[in-house]
Amino acid sequence: MRKYSLFLLVLTLFFLSCTKDRVIEVAPIVYPVEYWKKDSLVYTLFQGGVELNQQVTTYGISSPDTLTLTYETSSFNLTFLDGDKGNATLGFTSGVFSFDIDSLYLYGADTLRQKVVQKGDSLMILETSILNGEYLREYRDYYQLLDINAEAPIVSFKNDIYDPIFYNNGEGRCMPCHNDDGGQIRLVPADLAYDELISGVSKNDGGVPYINTVQPGESYLYRLAIDDNVEYAMPPNSDLTPFEVETILMWIAQGAQNN
Ligand code: HEC
Repeated sequence: MRKYSLFLLVLTLFFLSCTKDRVIEVAPIVYPVEYWKKDSLVYTLFQGGVELNQQVTTYGISSPDTLTLTYETSSFNLTFLDGDKGNATLGFTSGVFSFDIDSLYLYGADTLRQKVVQKGDSLMILETSILNGEYLREYRDYYQLLDINAEAPIVSFKNDIYDPIFYNNGEGRCMPCHNDDGGQIRLVPADLAYDELISGVSKNDGGVPYINTVQPGESYLYRLAIDDNVEYAMPPNSDLTPFEVETILMWIAQGAQNN
């Protein structure tokens, strides 16, 4: 009898834990997820269903914890891969697909499937499988929730936009054209860049404000970045990544603070 109730208890716990598992429905946008900390990565290689190799990498406190891919998909056929593995463009998809996961290498004929699964309240798993003929590579990235009450990450102008994208020690995406030597708008140093952007209007396109927190998508800065009906897209030489563009849009939508 005791055995039986123990069995029932285990069964109940099992079903309870199952109902906690869910696939997160996410829009195809990417943003810095500061409240998820990368915990570990499990990599398994199969050939014809037989496991050939498995590696487990655990991450410490100083490991990169960015997670930029946030949409669930069925399968993709990879038709094009940029030299930069941090930013791949796939064929047969409705949009551009961007990810930022180390150790994820893709080759020409790979078929990729990814989904985000949340286990309980504080563990998230990014499941990736890549099929190429009879080779199957499976990755599971585990993330721990840092702050359970966190609503959404607040984008920092300085840490998420200015330093990594615009300036980047003088090597950034707006450099050298907008450093203090000239250009239409000065974007060095950070405080000046903020003031110029927050109060400025487009010289080329009829005085449209660079920043519009009421209609973020109308902001001229954002339109420059996505080349939406503008005189000259910025940067003129090559596009910002979808991740960078989303970060800018999110910052504006959150009130474009000088944070
Ligand atoms: C290769 C050089 C170059 C890079 C890189 C570059 N810009 Fe520009 N930018 C220009 C030039 C040149 C103009 C002036 C265009 C004109 O009106 O002739 C300009 C103009 C602008 C303007 C004013 C547009 C207007 O209508 O008022 C903004 C804002 C701007 N850039 C932002 C950026 C941002 C933000 C970045 C980086 C994400 C960037 N630019 C990267 C060369 C560059």
